[in-house]
Amino acid sequence: MSEGNIKSILNEERLFQPPTDFVKQAALSATELEQRYALAAQDSNAYWEKMATDLIVWDKPWSQVLDDSKAPNYKWFSGGELNVSANCLDVHLETRADKTAIIFEGEQGGVRRISYAELTSEVSRFANALKASGISCGDRVVIYMPMVPEAVIAMQACARIGAIHSVVFGGFSAVALRDRINDAGARMLITADGGFRGGSPVELKRAADEALSGGCPTIERVIVLQRTKQDVPMKVGRDIWWSDAIADQCDECAPLPVEASHPLFLLYTSGSTGKPKGVQHGSAGYLLNARLTYETVFDYQETDVFWCTADVGWITGHSYVAYGPLAAGATILMYEGSPTVPDAGRFWKICETHKVTVFYTAPTAIRALMRFGDEVPESYDLSSIRLLGSVGEPINPEAWTWYHRVIGREVCPIVDTWWQTETGGIMMSPVPSVTATPPGSCTQPLPGIAADIVDDQGNTVTSPELGGYLVIRKPWPSMLQTIWGDNDRYIETYWEKFHGRFYVAGDSAHTDKHGNFWIMGRIDDVLNVSGHRLGTMEVESALVSHEKVVEAAVVGRPDEIKGEAIFAYVVPCGARPSGDDAKALVKELRAWVSKQVGPIAKPDNIRFADSLPKTRSGKIMRRLLRTIASGEAITQDTSTLEDPSILDQLRGED
Ligand code: PRX
Repeated sequence: MSEGNIKSILNEERLFQPPTDFVKQAALSATELEQRYALAAQDSNAYWEKMATDLIVWDKPWSQVLDDSKAPNYKWFSGGELNVSANCLDVHLETRADKTAIIFEGEQGGVRRISYAELTSEVSRFANALKASGISCGDRVVIYMPMVPEAVIAMQACARIGAIHSVVFGGFSAVALRDRINDAGARMLITADGGFRGGSPVELKRAADEALSGGCPTIERVIVLQRTKQDVPMKVGRDIWWSDAIADQCDECAPLPVEASHPLFLLYTSGSTGKPKGVQHGSAGYLLNARLTYETVFDYQETDVFWCTADVGWITGHSYVAYGPLAAGATILMYEGSPTVPDAGRFWKICETHKVTVFYTAPTAIRALMRFGDEVPESYDLSSIRLLGSVGEPINPEAWTWYHRVIGREVCPIVDTWWQTETGGIMMSPVPSVTATPPGSCTQPLPGIAADIVDDQGNTVTSPELGGYLVIRKPWPSMLQTIWGDNDRYIETYWEKFHGRFYVAGDSAHTDKHGNFWIMGRIDDVLNVSGHRLGTMEVESALVSHEKVVEAAVVGRPDEIKGEAIFAYVVPCGARPSGDDAKALVKELRAWVSKQVGPIAKPDNIRFADSLPKTRSGKIMRRLLRTIASGEAITQDTSTLEDPSILDQLRGED
């Protein structure tokens, strides 16, 4: 690390063994897991080849497992052909046609159950509608939808005809949507009039119109799902209702075989610098690992009702809502709305009603729901739940223990899954029937995943106490292929630091005496707000684009619920405002960032200063700002500051 190896401070000694009853019914035995580890260690290509044979239906077999001739642009299963949608739907029609694929519950109630046969028809019908609108293989389609089954239908329909989808989270603003549409050069936008979230309709079509009117020259057509029935304008010649688009379409559409590495989707994610990156994922490798990890980590059983609470706008909603579980033939639950509507018992009520067996959510949700007290979940029957999962950020031992005791009734294992948008699937996690788990650790890499921790020179850090860079030493099938339109950025961001020797995740981590991995946080300027990555740059650019702002620096401050809260230091134009003027400007800037990026990026704190602390070379002293934001004593050298009096301003003490 640039600031020396980080000393780990967490000292968690407890180890939770897999419960005996859980082990007895497990899908994967310790011996089978051992065999997988052994094969992967001996010959990782042979391991992936075996998994690809067992788990994917191919239209044409591959000729080469891993083509590394253009490393780090690796190609998996070269020469092979398949269709992702066929692997999620058609493959089940013989044995599971009537099995429920999706149980959907709207925020205002209203439950829909969709069988595999029905889902296949709906996806095919919509795929035909896409074709009728001129969309073909390789075209980009942006999906900006609420959390409803049609979002999955749209994704699967794109996959069926080889179109590349880019889902933009419905909570992002018009500006963020427009940037993503333009970066992808999308021909079509699929959206809805709105969605229900937080007790009131969210206005998606209005935001979409605003995005398009700001200039999206590549968009030819907009398909609009009617969800809330709010009044929305429809632009003649461009906009068409979903129901009209599918009205005359046949419910059969032959899935198009595509190359194994054909791009399945782009998903924009934050980096430390510049605009969001369009992380590009391929078809076969991605699907293989989404399914494999789903089955392994969540101990997949035919009768499961699997609920991953993530929105389809994030990678978790791609891999563990739209693809992995469907490829396995599972029943998934989708919920449209907020966890606290109409009250903080909503998640638990859904688990009770639909007899959810496996529940997967983020620490931020656990911490938020924990606040309402044990009585809330205890007033529901949660006995159907047999396994719990966590994702998105380190789970603090207190939240882990509450999750285990109250939701898991001390009989459910917890899988703390570490992965990223870029990795496509879970990389490190306990296997619930096998791994002894300390609260707060994602434990071990899964078979075939060569995770390691290295120092600045790229040497493995051997002392368990010391932290280092988390890296992956070998390519894996669900790795990102590139950054859409910017391969140099792909190489620079993930490979350059150690000259292409391994993938650099951007996290720091350490191991413990059992060899378990503990994630310590990001090493770049990326915030983790409520389990979602946000670049400090994005918030800073939004702030400086406001006419009253000269300069801004944004850092994270530890937050009990959100993991990290956003703290912005702003140099305003003219005199530093105080009193009511300062309050008014804070309000204005928060609203501005919300409009530019989305409500998730709204700074929790804004503090005004006449200048920002900089090093002699002109770099903003972020570590100092982080220290101040978290209210800690300053230990850094501040003697080089041009204007030491700004320290008081930054502390909010003048
Ligand atoms: O810092 C790690 C954290 O989230 C980052 C990835 O964010 P994103 O691409 O948005 O994907 C989130 C869902 C996969 C990682 O670099 N992170 C994710 N899971 C964990 C985690 N940190 C600690 N423990 C985890 N289980």
